[in-house]
Amino acid sequence: MPRFAYVNGRYIDHRRAAVHVEDRGYQLADGVYEVIHLFRGRLVDEDAHLDRLGRSLEELRMSWPISRSALGVAIRELIRRNRYATGLVYIQVTRGVAPRDHKFPIVGRPVLVMTIRPISEFPTEMRENGVAVITIDDLRWARCDIKTVALLPNVLGKQAAAEAGAYEAWMCDGDGFVTEGTSSNAWIVTDEGTLVTRPAGPDILRGITRQAILALAEVQEVPVEERKFTREEALAAREAFLSNSSHFVTPVTSIDDVVIANGKPGSLSVALHKRYMDYMEAMPAALDDTQRKKSLS
Ligand SMILES: Cc1ncc(COP(=O)(O)O)c(C=O)c1O
Repeated sequence: MPRFAYVNGRYIDHRRAAVHVEDRGYQLADGVYEVIHLFRGRLVDEDAHLDRLGRSLEELRMSWPISRSALGVAIRELIRRNRYATGLVYIQVTRGVAPRDHKFPIVGRPVLVMTIRPISEFPTEMRENGVAVITIDDLRWARCDIKTVALLPNVLGKQAAAEAGAYEAWMCDGDGFVTEGTSSNAWIVTDEGTLVTRPAGPDILRGITRQAILALAEVQEVPVEERKFTREEALAAREAFLSNSSHFVTPVTSIDDVVIANGKPGSLSVALHKRYMDYMEAMPAALDDTQRKKSLS
């Protein structure tokens, strides 16, 4: 159970942390968010996540609630107070509290909320057997590159997946091409061993894990094609996997109940996950020694 949440400058008992009923995030989904993995004391790709947060804020004409450097300090203080080494840091910025009205409020400032929750490092079942995916129509808006808290189609998609006994739903555009998962990017590997994922554009979120995987693939000289692929191509692929900050590279072993290849996690997916682990191990610790000691006192 998390001990503290951060609400607009204060570290509050997690059970009592709350925002005002007229917060625009709550009433209008007028807000953005980020999720950063704290992995064995390291904030994975913190800079890239904060860059993306800055971009989301800019696209919605919102300002930083506190400076970027102050945000880094607050994230570390939240980690220190909660005493987690591994978990997910959730950062949410909304346009603030104001009487309900669609137009931007004239006065008012952004509201920053942060939580952290533990996560199990390696769900063994997922790693060893891969996960099942279903496909659904992509019902979202035209700016999926902005990481907003308006996640209703994603919520409905993930629920449909759960009800079908699957882990994730891959959304397909009107032409039958897979866009992405409800909380992950989608990948396949062709018979020739080429890694394929949809190009970054307004129709998908430019995943931070996706970017890191592309960089790792380049170093490993794995051929990559950033192009659209259809559900049918995915069903016939040599491998499929999904990526996100929560679980990095997760093998997909069935899509719509069709077994992918031999039904086992593919070798490239497994190798990329391993490379990703090495990549994270090389990152600096989030807390320095003094901060760590304070968190244990
Ligand atoms: C819709 C969507 N696509 C992709 C991702 C993966 O992004 P990242 O690798 O930055 O976690 C997420 C993560 O939450 C997501 O919600």
